[in-house]
Amino acid sequence: MRLTAVIVLVALPLLASLVVWNYFTGQSRSDASVSVTPILATDHPEAAIYLAESKGCTACHSLDGSIGIGPSWEGIYGSTRTFADGSMLQVDEAYLRESILQPGARVVAGYQNVMVAPALSENEVASLVELIRRMTPEFVQ
Ligand code: HEC
Repeated sequence: MRLTAVIVLVALPLLASLVVWNYFTGQSRSDASVSVTPILATDHPEAAIYLAESKGCTACHSLDGSIGIGPSWEGIYGSTRTFADGSMLQVDEAYLRESILQPGARVVAGYQNVMVAPALSENEVASLVELIRRMTPEFVQ
């Protein structure tokens, strides 16, 4: 009887607070790592392409200019985009980031709003943005 009371009154709250502590310190650790090095900054394009494949991006986006469910990534950086509502902008990093995190925010004219924002870490978002930024015909080969 006594042992059970000790477990319930001492051990369980202790365990619970450990779990909560771990959760919050874990959170702040990932918040602190916002400035991360994209994979491509270390010059491993194949790792970034593998990332795009493993996250399912390349099911809808080609790397070679061919049209799929989504626009190809080839040569889009710096080009002018027209959206379904008639607005336009030049593709830059902020737009790429927005397109990945909030795909419905601007819908490219001629395409359906079918993209779903995948769960990505900050490093993965930075790496995909860097990959698309450098997605020129010479780079893809
Ligand atoms: C189910 C198909 C689908 C998947 C999977 C998908 N997308 Fe998309 N994506 C689209 C479509 C369709 C558009 C164009 C409509 C729009 O702007 O939302 C688009 C637009 C974009 C744009 C803007 C492109 C431009 O030419 O202006 C970027 C950047 C992008 N997606 C990145 C990604 C990344 C990175 C992934 C993987 C993490 C991904 N997408 C996965 C369908 C998809």
